[in-house]
Amino acid sequence: MKKYALGVFVFVLVLYGCSSDELKNPLDVDLRAALAKASPTGNADHFILPDYGDYASIPADPNNPLTELKVELGRMLFFETGLALDPLFEESKGTWSCATCHIPEAGFMPGRAQGIADGGAGFGVNGEGRTKLFFYDNDEPDVQGARALNVMNTAYVPNTTWSGKFGGGDNNIGTEDVWEGDTEINRLGLSGMESQIIEGFALHRMNINETIIDTLGYKPYFNAVFGNFPESERYGKLTASFALSAYLRSMITSDAPFQHWLKGDEQAMSDEEKEGALLFFGKAGCYKCHNGTPLNNPTQFYAIGVKDLYETGDEAINTGIDDKRNKGRGGFTKREEDMYKFKVPGLYNMKGGGFYFHGSSKRSLKEVVKYFNVAQKENALVPQSQIAPQFRPLGLTEEEIDKVVLFLEHSLYDHEYHRHVPEAVLSGNCFPNNDELSRTELGCN
Ligand code: HEC
Ligand code: HEC
Repeated sequence: MKKYALGVFVFVLVLYGCSSDELKNPLDVDLRAALAKASPTGNADHFILPDYGDYASIPADPNNPLTELKVELGRMLFFETGLALDPLFEESKGTWSCATCHIPEAGFMPGRAQGIADGGAGFGVNGEGRTKLFFYDNDEPDVQGARALNVMNTAYVPNTTWSGKFGGGDNNIGTEDVWEGDTEINRLGLSGMESQIIEGFALHRMNINETIIDTLGYKPYFNAVFGNFPESERYGKLTASFALSAYLRSMITSDAPFQHWLKGDEQAMSDEEKEGALLFFGKAGCYKCHNGTPLNNPTQFYAIGVKDLYETGDEAINTGIDDKRNKGRGGFTKREEDMYKFKVPGLYNMKGGGFYFHGSSKRSLKEVVKYFNVAQKENALVPQSQIAPQFRPLGLTEEEIDKVVLFLEHSLYDHEYHRHVPEAVLSGNCFPNNDELSRTELGCN
């Protein structure tokens, strides 16, 4: 009897050992194959992001290598309301920061159709409570004619903004003839982010110089981080942009469930999420455009005919039918073939944003997927001839739509984003906003 039991035990062991491949969840096998096929490298590993803090593996501008201390400095500057020094009206001094329009809980987006920095007040729960101050006319606040982009995984964005106009390299090689005004900065030959943020200070009515750095208490940080710069160049927009860029590059969504799955933890996603991913990388065709590492596209711009910000109701101010931003990449290059084409944004941590596409025309990720499923342009200004051929009806069922949405909302959501928020900023100010109403709403009073 004993012998028989042992025999059965050994038999089961052998059986298990032989068939462990067949016991594998077929969804995992299929998804890995689909990913390899969808990736430009032919390997599913293409979609693996570096781990948080693995600075050596994060793409960087060679002029601006990432270090722990530089990231820490940038993290404070991003939320530092003490830099809001050039408002239109004195009352608004010191009341906003970069994070006024890039709010962590809102996926580093504004939490409303359009961000308002100088000229706005209030925060609400996630930015939705901000409104224009009554003593600013409609054309006076710092607002832009497009929704603020999510700034996570921007290490993978060589040319920044919806039109990709910043940065002297990559897609902008050959566009030198149109570098004027703010894009003159491209002549420094820096990456998109490093270039854009130098210009960002003036655009967002912020300032930084040696006196400001000293007054707010950041001088020891600048000395420690930028000791290799001569003192005359150490305390200004260039070094501040380098610190902010290093911080933004460090914002990698490496703990999203899809990332854990890619790295071998097959329990990290449910079967339904895996089915959603299979649709994303298959029938739904999303991968045809979103095939960069963070599911952006570093080299292509496409027209999908969504509405512009001025059409999304009275929430958007100081923009209109003639806004250059409505033309996307074409508004920058002035080339016919680029008209109405926009960058393909990354897709991690989009859930909290609440407003999607450059004109904030969609209010949920389900609405976004439905838009792609029907594939009918909604913007009368965009000629059908410009619309991307990959934008065509998908024939997804209601259930399939829900699975793609689940993949976007859950598998691509890194809950660890709080590590990108500082405990305090050196001025001691309230952040991300510091106006009276925001202070109350943020619990600073
Ligand atoms: C008034 C709101 C507002 C403020 C304040 C603001 N931004 Fe933005 N940000 C935007 C908008 C809008 C865009 C998209 C602009 C466009 O496409 O023309 C953007 C885009 C970006 C991008 C490009 C991301 C990409 O994928 O291309 C980066 C980086 C960025 N902002 C960083 C910053 C930093 C750093 C600061 C502070 C110095 C800042 N922002 C302050 C609204 C704002
Ligand atoms: C033709 C290329 C293309 C295809 C195919 C495509 N996308 Fe996009 N996607 C874009 C572009 C371009 C944008 C930005 C459009 C704009 O705002 O003008 C975008 C925007 C988005 C956004 C909003 C991002 C933001 O910051 O607001 C989401 C979410 C998204 N896509 C998900 C998907 C999903 C899911 C699929 C598949 C069902 C898909 N996309 C298919 C090109 C594409």
